[in-house]
Amino acid sequence: SKRVILDVDTGIDDALGILLAVKSGKLKIEGVTTVCGNVSLEQATLNTCKILELAGAEDIPVYAGASAPLIRKSHYEHRVHGSDGLGGALSDRVPVKQPEAGFGPSFIVETALRYSGDLTLIMTAPLTNLAIALQQCPDLPRHIREVIYMGGVVQGPGNVTPSAEYNIYADPEAARLVVDAGFESLTQVGLDVTRKALLTEGHIELLTEPAIRNYVQESTAIYIDRYEFVNGVRACALHDPLAVGVAIWPELVEAKEYFVDVETTSRLNDGRTVCDVQNRLGHPPNVRVCEQVDSESFLDRFISSLNS
Ligand code: BDR
Ligand code: CA
Repeated sequence: SKRVILDVDTGIDDALGILLAVKSGKLKIEGVTTVCGNVSLEQATLNTCKILELAGAEDIPVYAGASAPLIRKSHYEHRVHGSDGLGGALSDRVPVKQPEAGFGPSFIVETALRYSGDLTLIMTAPLTNLAIALQQCPDLPRHIREVIYMGGVVQGPGNVTPSAEYNIYADPEAARLVVDAGFESLTQVGLDVTRKALLTEGHIELLTEPAIRNYVQESTAIYIDRYEFVNGVRACALHDPLAVGVAIWPELVEAKEYFVDVETTSRLNDGRTVCDVQNRLGHPPNVRVCEQVDSESFLDRFISSLNS
């Protein structure tokens, strides 16, 4: 099974991504790094510990990373994820599990060097931790097998501004460093595909483990309300779980390589991933952009993994 680190800003859908990663039984999870994003670093770290306990995976180490974007102010997403990031679920739970003493980006570098050529990074948050890891170790791309990030959008609107997807918008300077870094395999799982991976209340009823079903029901209630308010469909997008799904089952998506850059100095388009679909700039490709997804098959696998 693939050796991975998950990088998260837990977040309702990050939590579902962690559950999928653990319950699929198909990944060797070396650790989970947390970052400021949907919620503060402290809250994201606390939420991550709660979710690992819920999943029965309290032995997986958690490392807190960056408490703010590289140069910008943090932009929390309380409207989407609730004030606590989990839509109010597990609010009474006081986790026994605590984060380790180390710093998230340093853990990424150390693990990459220890397992050179054999580590996959699954990023479901602003890319600050990976950008700091690159600053610590510019040689990092040589040691990483692949990076899969949930972020960006090529076709269609953003989800935080009219133009930008949240993870890229929250720290566009970090995202630029990452797409420019020269990773051997860098896969974008953006809104183009994650918007098609829709979880409905009907799906949730198919969950068989009561603790998991109750948790998913409770945590997604406001997330589904919000999605319905914005998109007119009673469902919610499994953005982060799909990035985990692509790591486990690459055959779920069709991807093409392009040159991608990130807008960092624009009034209206800040944080937009600009993809050179017609190769007008003539630059070599740097990102595998997911364009199509078999969403039905993904939802099936998501549900059966959570049921196992
Ligand atoms: C991304 O933004 C966050 O709010 C979600 O957790 C996901 O990682 C979707 O744009
Ligand atoms: Ca996230």
